[in-house]
Amino acid sequence: MKRVVFNQKGGVGKSSITSNLAAISARNGIKTLVVDLDTQGNTTQYLLGQPLHEIENTVADLFEQTVSFNLFSKEPFDFVHETPFPNLFVMPSSPNLDHLEGKLESRYKIYKLKDALTKLEDDFEAIYIDTPPALNFYSRSALIAAERCLIPFDCDEFSRQALYTLLGTLQEIRDDHNATLEVEGVIANQFQPRARLPKQLLEELIAEDLPLLPIYLSASVKMRESHQQSKPLIHMAASHKLTQQFVELHDLLNDKKSGKGKSRSSKVKVKTA
Ligand SMILES: Nc1ncnc2c1ncn2[C@@H]1O[C@H](COP(=O)(O)OP(=O)(O)OP(=O)(O)O)[C@@H](O)[C@H]1O
Ligand SMILES: [Mg+2]
Repeated sequence: MKRVVFNQKGGVGKSSITSNLAAISARNGIKTLVVDLDTQGNTTQYLLGQPLHEIENTVADLFEQTVSFNLFSKEPFDFVHETPFPNLFVMPSSPNLDHLEGKLESRYKIYKLKDALTKLEDDFEAIYIDTPPALNFYSRSALIAAERCLIPFDCDEFSRQALYTLLGTLQEIRDDHNATLEVEGVIANQFQPRARLPKQLLEELIAEDLPLLPIYLSASVKMRESHQQSKPLIHMAASHKLTQQFVELHDLLNDKKSGKGKSRSSKVKVKTA
């Protein structure tokens, strides 16, 4: 399963959700790869615990070899790194992604990630793609390469506007490039049950028949601690409420439970206004 975690809005929890779901997948014995397409490299640092500038053979190098002549080109697997966690692997980001972008775009390399991930599908049962907070060459490559898209949502009014735009973008990607791309659902993050507005906002999304998932991820300082220690929640605080919500989310997305309250992705209505 190839899953992209995307929202063009910044700071909604893309990297935190990608990394923690992938860590749970790996902990469950599933060989799991995370591809970090965000030049900020938050996911790379979180899972590898290594400064970005020290890392060689990154996803930028994979893209680079598609635009430069190379007698001995490497295979996608050569850009995959082991993490300290069993079954969990990362294709790391790099600051070089920034200056490569124009070149890749002008030479129509938008399907190269899809080709690379197709080659890696035999090695990895689960592939998660973290994206930058923008609809750019890299996030579009990811939406073209993935089978499902999970949308983090941070429960404020600006996020709601971003969500309508995003659902329109996904429809366009489906029409033009990836007809079977499925909206897996909108995952509410940093939810505060005692605040009135976020609750009201989520109720309105449900009333509009948007594909809101039935698990709301709590806001917790554990998330920052987990980033600081470069240890996903399942390895740092397995019984914490937020970790358990991630475990439930992982099970829900991977159909481990009865299917009660599953994503309403098949019923997604696209509203672009
Ligand atoms: N459930 C949570 N509880 C508390 N803090 C959280 C939670 N989820 C994310 N955060 C914090 O919010 C910030 C943004 O999270 P994250 O980096 O995952 O978002 P992002 O969408 O990947 O951001 P960007 O768009 O910059 O890539 C981080 O400081 C992270 O620690
Ligand atoms: Mg991020």
